[in-house]
Formats: sequence, C-alpha cells, structure tokens
Amino acid sequence: MKYISVAIDGPSGAGKSTVARAAAAKLGYVYVDTGAMYRSIGLAVCRRGIAGEDTAGIIATLPEIAIQLTYQDGAQHVLLNGEDVSEAIRTPEISYYASKVSAVPEVRRFLLETQRNMAKNGNILMDGRDIGTVILPDAPVKIFLTASAQSRAERRYKELIEKGQQVTMDGILHDINERDRQDMTRAVAPLKQADDAVLLDTSSLTLEESIAAVLRIIREKT
Ligand code: C5P
Repeated sequence: MKYISVAIDGPSGAGKSTVARAAAAKLGYVYVDTGAMYRSIGLAVCRRGIAGEDTAGIIATLPEIAIQLTYQDGAQHVLLNGEDVSEAIRTPEISYYASKVSAVPEVRRFLLETQRNMAKNGNILMDGRDIGTVILPDAPVKIFLTASAQSRAERRYKELIEKGQQVTMDGILHDINERDRQDMTRAVAPLKQADDAVLLDTSSLTLEESIAAVLRIIREKT
C-alpha cells in the first residue's frame, strides 16, 4: 500500500510543530518532529560535556545513542537510550546544541534511514529543515512554512515565559537569527525551500488560520 507523506520545512519558531501536529491529528496522520531527534543528539552531546564545535567528539558519541519515537495519546515522545527526554530537549541550550550537531554530516546520515523508514509505515506528516529536499524528495505534498524573524521571536518568547523559563526578547531574537544563519549556510542539507514546495508565510496568520491553510494545501494535493 502506498502511504501519503507530507513534508513541512521551515525556519525555527515559525510554528511548524504546533501547526503540523494539529494538522496531522485532524487527518489521522502520524506526526514526526525530526527536530526532536536532532535535539536528543544535542542533549546527549551536552550531557557528555562535549563542546558544540567538537565535531570529532560529536561523531564519537553516535554509537552510544539510540533514538526512538513513541506515541502516547497521539503525542510524540522522544526516547534517548530509553529515557523520555521530550521536555529536557526544549531549552535554549539544547536548541544551540541541536543546531551544532545537525551541521555534522555523520549526524544527518545517522538519522536519515530512521526518518525515511517512518514514511514507509503509514501516512505521515514530517516536519524539519530538509524533509522536502533530502529525506522525502518524492513527497506529494511539500510546504515551506515561514514567518518573519520578529514574529517568530515574539511567539517563542511568549511560549518560554509561559513555561517559566528566564529569557529576554533580545536574546530570543538573537538566537533565532543565529540559528537561521547556521541552518541556511551549512554545507549539508541547508534549510531551503524545495522547488515544488508551497510557500506559506504565517507572520500575519493566527494559529487556527495557519492550520486551516496547511489543511487546504494538503487537500488540494492529495
Ligand atoms: O525544529 P527544531 O527547532 O526543534 O530543530 C532543532 C534544530 O535541529 C534546528 O535548529 C536545526 O538546526 C536542526 N534540524 C535539522 N534538520 C531537521 C530538523 C531540525 O537540521 N530536519
């Protein structure tokens, strides 16, 4: 049986995961957050005291890492060597580490097969940076979901403050610009819109409008 894959790519903080999760739930598709996989590797590297710039150190930890995605009540949980790290990976420090490890080709290769295999087992909606360009180039639906850096920073700020984290708007904007730069300029699988992806700018859309827009695109293409 041929399953449907929806690839959603875009920069940090554009609301990809919230929108993708809601759209997947509505369609009964499995939602796959590939950023959580890179974040888990970042967490493993950080916990070992390895610097983000230490490429050899990052590569050396890969054989010690097993990443698994599980689903409870429709929510994705990410397990790092059996430990549920779904919450632990959502800090600014681990965002930084995720961005660093994701620029290492061996790390991307390490996750590629796992991600491709997930698309063979059911209808999925996968979000990341290179899903439409590298992981699932034949996906029938590709969406490049973006928003201005300022509006992404405002959303992220609100989210982290609600979680009780101590952050500043300037700090968040700086981190977003820095991660955009790193994601777009890296040599392997840089963040870029696939030629056949539909561009969706959510700067002036509410969450509900963004979800509706994604569902509309998926319905038109399938
Ligand atoms: O999407 P999220 O912000 O959780 O991703 C964390 C980091 O992982 C990103 O900054 C990006 O560098 C990296 N990433 C990637 N390729 C993906 C998903 C995430 O390089 N498919």
